[in-house]
Amino acid sequence: MALSQANLELLQAFERGLDPQHPERSQMPARVLGYGEISTVFAIDAEGLRGLAFKRLPLFYNSAEVEKYQAVYAEYNRLLETEIGIRLPAHDYAVFANAAGRPIFYIIQKQLSPDAIGNRAIHRLSREMVLVLVKRTLQELRKVWEFNRRQNRVQVAIDGQISNWVIDGFNSANPRVEDAALMYVDTSTPLWRVNGVEQLDTELFLRSAPSFLVWILRLLFLKDVVNRYYDFHRVAVDLAANFHKEQRSDLIPDVVKVVNDFFTGEAMTLGIQPITQKEVNDYYQEDAFIWSLYLSMRKVDRFLRTQVLRGQYPYILPEKIKR
Ligand SMILES: Nc1ncnc2c1ncn2[C@@H]1O[C@H](COP(=O)(O)OP(=O)(O)OP(=O)(O)O)[C@@H](O)[C@H]1O
Ligand SMILES: [Mg+2]
Repeated sequence: MALSQANLELLQAFERGLDPQHPERSQMPARVLGYGEISTVFAIDAEGLRGLAFKRLPLFYNSAEVEKYQAVYAEYNRLLETEIGIRLPAHDYAVFANAAGRPIFYIIQKQLSPDAIGNRAIHRLSREMVLVLVKRTLQELRKVWEFNRRQNRVQVAIDGQISNWVIDGFNSANPRVEDAALMYVDTSTPLWRVNGVEQLDTELFLRSAPSFLVWILRLLFLKDVVNRYYDFHRVAVDLAANFHKEQRSDLIPDVVKVVNDFFTGEAMTLGIQPITQKEVNDYYQEDAFIWSLYLSMRKVDRFLRTQVLRGQYPYILPEKIKR
């Protein structure tokens, strides 16, 4: 999937006309499909760009940084698709400088139906089907840890959250999950290690953080947060805790059971410790607290930079996230 020159220019025009503080007031009509912690996902309403999802990453200071990221991103996609066997939507990327001369990286993916995205689907599917979806997700995740176990040179990380998985060919009138193909969309954080060395420059994640928090984030969280994605047990806790965030706490006891049946059953050879409901609840409380604190600190930072210092603020912040 490659964008034509004309469409690339359209995307550049979108970037030029984008007001990061009010993305809905963009010169080119666009819709936010999702907010990540570091990226914003757009659908852009222009001939040639329809049907695509654009993930905007405004993290880079110079071309060397963005080139490094591009290589790490491309290899992560290859590892997932070719070596591990996880399906990704058709994808591409584009890079160009914004008005201030900073490179902006866009991940481009085929746009998938919102109903098919895990966190939407869990509100529509029956309880049994949701649990099948969780099992199917675990089966996809398992491929990553099987790969990591097969050899020890390259270790790959993945974020198992339900909002990162999409049911291919989902039909809401006749939803089928058992034999459905799942696709993974969240490739913007390409974490993988070669002989223990992280290939992604994780300092990039601290870029969007207020400068007055960077040192404490680096000290307390960065290593722990990154390590989490290499640990199947913790990825499963995160997946289960997601059901709190997605307002389906009622399902958590069943989800925990599905996870543990999986770890002690078909994935037994991986030797993963079972998870507990307490672990899920404690983790959620801590995680929700940290992220809401973090978001409010970013809003303070945005206020300081735009209102007090009269400068630019390049990041797009979500309004209140329902937790
Ligand atoms: N290809 C796509 N088609 C339609 N919607 C998408 C697509 N990719 C992402 N989205 C929507 O945007 C949301 C965030 O996307 P994604 O997980 O890739 O972003 P992210 O910045 O990596 O987020 P985070 O790391 O915080 O999970 C998804 O949960 C989904 O709702
Ligand atoms: Mg995500």
